Amino acid sequence: MSLYIKYQDISLKKKAGELSELLHLKIFTEPENIKERNFSEDYFLVLNSENMFLQKGLNRNTNPIFSDFDNWAANYEDKLLQKSLRGLPNNFSCIDLTAGFGKDAFEIAKSRKCKSIHLIEKEKWVFSLLEDGLKNSGTKEAKELLLKFQIFNEDNLQFLETNKKKYDLIFIDPMFTGVQKSKAKRHMQALRDLSSSINDENLLRRSLERANLKVIVKRHKNMAFLEEVLPSKSIEGKVVRYDIYNTN
Ligand SMILES: C[S@@+](CC[C@H](N)C(=O)[O-])C[C@H]1O[C@@H](n2cnc3c(N)ncnc32)[C@H](O)[C@@H]1O
Repeated sequence: MSLYIKYQDISLKKKAGELSELLHLKIFTEPENIKERNFSEDYFLVLNSENMFLQKGLNRNTNPIFSDFDNWAANYEDKLLQKSLRGLPNNFSCIDLTAGFGKDAFEIAKSRKCKSIHLIEKEKWVFSLLEDGLKNSGTKEAKELLLKFQIFNEDNLQFLETNKKKYDLIFIDPMFTGVQKSKAKRHMQALRDLSSSINDENLLRRSLERANLKVIVKRHKNMAFLEEVLPSKSIEGKVVRYDIYNTN
């Protein structure tokens, strides 16, 4: 399974070349490559004139994968995560150490009490999609929430070491491993398939030293506590569990 860059119009060839250098990814050129195999398990970062999205396989009817903040503002709600934020004060600051597509961070930003949120993502191609999603969000509602965002393409522990700021809330969503992969949503499946970034074993312990008020860890409900540290409490849903660590 590989990740390629693909462009939909010849006018985007230069931009694709620049992106290929930046992300160290090959450009997919259809006529020659397509004879070798069918590419159904491969992924493509597709450039079109408006935006950039991720697509699995070459079927143009496959739903595009991207940071769809307009849609998430209007049609998505994670009640469990909202519930986990209860008790945080007005104007709380947050850092999401495993930003991915920014969907969970966006959900945190929806809390009226959240003042700002820093998003850290190490993987360059994921960061590019996140950046593109921010640039292309169009609705008033999404744009207002995104004003709270600041995004950084860095390793999370390095970021914590070089930036001494303390955050009220630290959010961590490590990749689920060791549980049945069966029904992962497309965004998460793509991250599992393609992300090579790994979290440091002590990410939670380091976060507990740095958070003013809380650390929240997202887990699959059947998974053990991260780094075997017992949380202050957990909020569990059908698939996901939020482990909440009070640090004050
Ligand atoms: C399960 S995903 C997070 C998904 C995210 N919560 C969302 O709503 O889209 C974990 C993410 O952490 C990133 N990651 C893994 N190790 C990292 C590290 N050391 N520093 C920064 N990001 C890292 C991965 O590339 C991946 O995008």
